Amino acid sequence: MNFPEYRPRRMRRTEGLRRMVRETRLSVDDFVYPLFVVPGSGVEKPIKSLPGQFNFSVDKATEAAARTADLGIPAVILFGIPEHKDAVGSEAWKDQGVVQKAIRAIKKARPELVVMVDSCFCEYTDHGHCGVLHEGELDNDATLENLARTVVSYAKAGCDVVAPSGMLDGFVGACRESLDEQHFDQVAIMAYSVKYASAYYGPFREAVESAPTSGDRKGHQMDYANVAEAVREASMDVAEGADIIMVKPALAYLDVIRAVSDDINMPIAAYAVSGEYAMIEAAAANGWIDRDRVVMETLTGIRRAGADIIISYHAPHAAKLLAKV
Ligand code: PBG
Ligand code: ZN
Repeated sequence: MNFPEYRPRRMRRTEGLRRMVRETRLSVDDFVYPLFVVPGSGVEKPIKSLPGQFNFSVDKATEAAARTADLGIPAVILFGIPEHKDAVGSEAWKDQGVVQKAIRAIKKARPELVVMVDSCFCEYTDHGHCGVLHEGELDNDATLENLARTVVSYAKAGCDVVAPSGMLDGFVGACRESLDEQHFDQVAIMAYSVKYASAYYGPFREAVESAPTSGDRKGHQMDYANVAEAVREASMDVAEGADIIMVKPALAYLDVIRAVSDDINMPIAAYAVSGEYAMIEAAAANGWIDRDRVVMETLTGIRRAGADIIISYHAPHAAKLLAKV
C-alpha cells in the first residue's frame, strides 16, 4: 500500500487541532441585531412569522438594546412602524417619530452601542411603496429629497449610522450631501447597495406591515439572476460615499457576497433576512434540524463568503452560543 505523505485527516482528529487550523472565525463583534419599534409604551408584541422576535415600544426597545449590548453585540439596526401612514411617508422625518425617540433613548441608556437606522419609506407609506409615487411609479428624485430629510432627522436624534434601503439611484450621494450640509459629516452610511427583489422578505413585511398594496419592488430592487450588476451597484455607492456596502439577502447570495468582497475594498455587510431566520426556526421547532448547529454553520458560511458584518435575527442566540465555548 502506497499511503500519501499528507493525510488531511490528521489535523481534523481533535477539537484542539481543528481549532488551530480553522480558517474562518465567527465573533460576536461581527453581529448587528435588528429591532422593530412601534408607538406606545410597554409594548412587547411577538411577531408571529418571526418566532422569538417582537415589536417593541421605545421603552421596551431600549431594554432589548441593553440586553443586546450586554451580550457583547456591538450594534443594533432600528426599523420603525409609525403612528400614521400617508402617501409620502412623512412620519419618517418627524423629530418626534418613533425611531427618533428610540435612537435618543437607546443612546442615552447605552452610549457605546452603535445605533444604525434603516432608512426607507415602505413602512411609512399607506401604499407600502418605498417612496413617493408618480402615476403609479416610484418617483426616484422626489423620494431622494425626502430621504435626505429623513436621514438628517435620524442624525439629529443621535444615530451613528444611517442605512438607506430603498435601492434608489443616487441614494447614497443624496444622504451624504444632506448629512454633510447639516454638519453630520461623522454619521456613517451603510448602503443597501445590493438588495435583491426577494421573496425572503415575507415575514419582515408582516412585522412592519409594509407589503405593497399593489405591484412589487422589481422596478428598484435587483433581479436575483444578476451578479455583475451587484459589483456595479456597489462601486457606484462607494463613489457616492458609502462607508459599508451591504448584500441582502445572504444565504441564497453567498456568491454575490464573495464577488462584492473580492472587488470592493470596503467593509461588507450581509443581511440574513427574515425568511432565512423563519426557515431555520420553523424546521428547528419541528425537530427536523438542530437549531444551534444550523445557526452557527449558516453564520460561519456567510463570513466565509466574505462578509465582515452580519445583520441577523439570530445574533443574540449566536452570541450566547459563542460565549459558551
Ligand atoms: C425596507 C427593508 C426591507 C427589509 C429591510 N429593509 C423589506 C423590503 O425591502 O421589502 C427586509 C428585512 C428582512 O426581511 O429581514 N425597509
Ligand atoms: Zn422600502
